[in-house]
Amino acid sequence: MSFTLWFTGLSGAGKTTLSRKVFFELRERGLKGEHLDGDIIRANFSQELGFSQRDRDINVRRIGFVSHLLNKHGVISVVAVIAPYAAARRQNRQLIENYVEVFVHCPLSVAESRDVKGLYAKARAGVIPNFTGVSDPYEEPVEPDLEVRTDLNSVDECYAQIIDHLESRGLVPRKPDCRPCLTVAEEERAWREHLASLGYAILK
Ligand SMILES: Nc1ncnc2c1ncn2[C@@H]1O[C@H](COP(=O)(O)OP(=O)(O)OP(=O)(O)O)[C@@H](O)[C@H]1O
Ligand SMILES: [Mg+2]
Repeated sequence: MSFTLWFTGLSGAGKTTLSRKVFFELRERGLKGEHLDGDIIRANFSQELGFSQRDRDINVRRIGFVSHLLNKHGVISVVAVIAPYAAARRQNRQLIENYVEVFVHCPLSVAESRDVKGLYAKARAGVIPNFTGVSDPYEEPVEPDLEVRTDLNSVDECYAQIIDHLESRGLVPRKPDCRPCLTVAEEERAWREHLASLGYAILK
């Protein structure tokens, strides 16, 4: 059964990290899926959009529509996009038959201390405007399908919670052992190969 698994949360909360793991596990289990990551989408699909509320909502609805089409043709959509506004997320929930929202929950202070891409420092310095959590709102999901706390639990623990949720809903067939199928290095290589095979712009 196809579905859309949407990871929402602050920058640095862990959306890319967790969604990639899940995506590769689904592939390993023989399921057809696509991984739509915010950075890739903005570089390849929504280049003309900025970070105003209007543009963010267009981006989120656009990805929702593509996910709906993918699902219709039996392809699972795994999305890692902040999607800060509740109304746009709600619209996608209405459009997509099997919409599973994962709130990747991490307090701003922790996400900021990780500052994986150095963006929080730039946002605090005023170099980047409209930065979620700093100068732009993040409307926390009130009723997500699943919430994972990435400040309290490890990557593997959060990953296991997500797989468990999908299995218990019958969206993914059960497997006795839900440990990640690939090492981090293998996962990185596989992701780059996957993007290159689709003709995406190469990541930094
Ligand atoms: N439980 C956890 N789950 C996910 N990531 C975690 C966890 N604990 C620590 N981390 C670390 O937090 C960082 C999350 O970065 P990641 O790029 O996944 O964030 P993101 O939500 O995709 O941000 P952005 O919106 O900027 O793309 C990684 O360095 C990851 O190793
Ligand atoms: Mg990311």
